[in-house]
Amino acid sequence: MTDLPEHVAANREAWDRYAADYVESGRRDWARDAPTWGIWGVPEAELHLLPDDLEGLDTIELGCGTAYVSAWLGRRGARPVGIDNSPGQLESARRFQAEFGLEFPLHLGNAEATPFPDASFDLAISEYGACLWADPYAWIPEAARLLRPGGQLVFLTNGVILQLCLEERDADDPAKERLQRPLFGLHRTIWPDDTSVEFHLPHGEWIGLLRENGFEIDRLVEIQPPADALDSPRYSFVTVDWARKWPSEEAWVARIAADPAVRS
Ligand SMILES: C[S@@+](CC[C@H](N)C(=O)[O-])C[C@H]1O[C@@H](n2cnc3c(N)ncnc32)[C@H](O)[C@@H]1O
Repeated sequence: MTDLPEHVAANREAWDRYAADYVESGRRDWARDAPTWGIWGVPEAELHLLPDDLEGLDTIELGCGTAYVSAWLGRRGARPVGIDNSPGQLESARRFQAEFGLEFPLHLGNAEATPFPDASFDLAISEYGACLWADPYAWIPEAARLLRPGGQLVFLTNGVILQLCLEERDADDPAKERLQRPLFGLHRTIWPDDTSVEFHLPHGEWIGLLRENGFEIDRLVEIQPPADALDSPRYSFVTVDWARKWPSEEAWVARIAADPAVRS
């Protein structure tokens, strides 16, 4: 028995199962000095998702997985903390901390309801973590609670249009060039033959939800593969050819209002 919400329990079981498949890529990303993002490995130098100066910032990675993003932040002077719902993924993260000699706190828990005090971080970040696998109507208010006035939220997830063009998340059935599913009602997705639960929202809903929780939106970055990108052997639900025409990934950069009066 567990008192976790049903989708959180399902995703814990699923990510403990997937964890072994992410060890090799996790180690590669821990070893990488310069951050690269998402399926296509777009360099941070092109996307500018991170603050220029991370020195002394308290950062929280929501759904940190193997925690390589937190490692990149830590090496740039931040004080990272990671939270993840999967003991298996955290085991990999701890192994990499020992291998690479970089320790920071890692917590097992649900990013929708964390144990941290109000206003304890300057940056909340999620790369295909809570932003894909937790309910936005729960994790966005939680991220707002955790951030200090002026604090930044950065998250990167599947492009909404990609969601609409997928019939199934199946290696043999990549995204189509026609819409396969409605935009209205987009929220919770369970793919056939899988038990994990994903969350996607229409852009209008993201904007409304972020603003209702006190965020100002700085940027929505629609990510394109670099010129030399090849089809990904792992994420075969989208081809590089498709991703050159439509955004397969999107990153949101938002900031909590610096004036607390605006938040209430
Ligand atoms: C694609 S992985 C991690 C992304 C990370 N950038 C990496 O690749 O190591 C997604 C992670 O989100 C975590 N996750 C899913 N639901 C979560 C939740 N409700 N709270 C915290 N973490 C969650 C999973 O356990 C998994 O480790």
